Amino acid sequence: MNKIRLTSKQIEQFQNTVLKQGEKLYREMPWREDTNPYNVLLSEIMLQQTQVSRVLLKYEEFKSAFPTLQALAEADFQEVLSHWSGLGYNRRARFLHETAKMLVAQKSFPDDADSLQKCPGIGENTAAAIVVYAFNKPLTFLETNVRTVLIYSFFQEADEKIDEHVLKDLAEQTLYVKNPRKWYWALMDYGTYLKKTEGNFNRKSTKHTIQSKFEGSFRQKRAATLRCLLKNGPMTIDELAETQGFEAALMVEIVDTLKKDSLVTEVNNRIIIQ
Ligand code: ADE
Repeated sequence: MNKIRLTSKQIEQFQNTVLKQGEKLYREMPWREDTNPYNVLLSEIMLQQTQVSRVLLKYEEFKSAFPTLQALAEADFQEVLSHWSGLGYNRRARFLHETAKMLVAQKSFPDDADSLQKCPGIGENTAAAIVVYAFNKPLTFLETNVRTVLIYSFFQEADEKIDEHVLKDLAEQTLYVKNPRKWYWALMDYGTYLKKTEGNFNRKSTKHTIQSKFEGSFRQKRAATLRCLLKNGPMTIDELAETQGFEAALMVEIVDTLKKDSLVTEVNNRIIIQ
């Protein structure tokens, strides 16, 4: 699929529509009202692959346990994980903790995407999003809601999949540089609204993936194993398998993936969160 070039009139019309919808649909969120970089970092990592409603339930609790980047950096990983538990995709807790340690060691919170991308768990889009929301700098990034709005607005009739580079190019052409923070809030809220009212246009994106069912999945068993370790402290593979009611071979596999994600280590045949 080829890139499309918008006229300045089309750009202006699109910006007006998005900003108007953004004002109408604006959702207050704790990390929007106070844009300090730690809050923004924390919320953006939490919001990866996780719905706003679920993040809202956890965000304040996590913030009271670790009110600052410094407090998070100095905490035990076990404690960080116990406050993360319930949000899912637990490797994000490890990434976030490592990021906090790195940034505290650097003594300043970077305001550019390149530096942020050096942190674990922060990819190109998350880095740009943090810079936009925390510092209001005009960067482009794609995210599920941004894709929804662009595809709804420019590719409703398309019968082929739309490539990332085409969407990224459109995001660049249409970016509202006067107030990027406000622009992306509007895209988020309008995108969420469109998904509810018009259906999921993201299916037309080459990036579209369907999240696998959690119930009964390997992911669920992995999460249950971590919770068991959080509750009981160090355990052997056999003890874990027995407590969870899984075959030992499956537990070996689970523990292997947890080790790979640096969530646990093994000391004297015991699996520990560290
Ligand atoms: N506001 C700031 N970041 C957001 C995100 N990732 N999703 C929804 N709203 C947001």
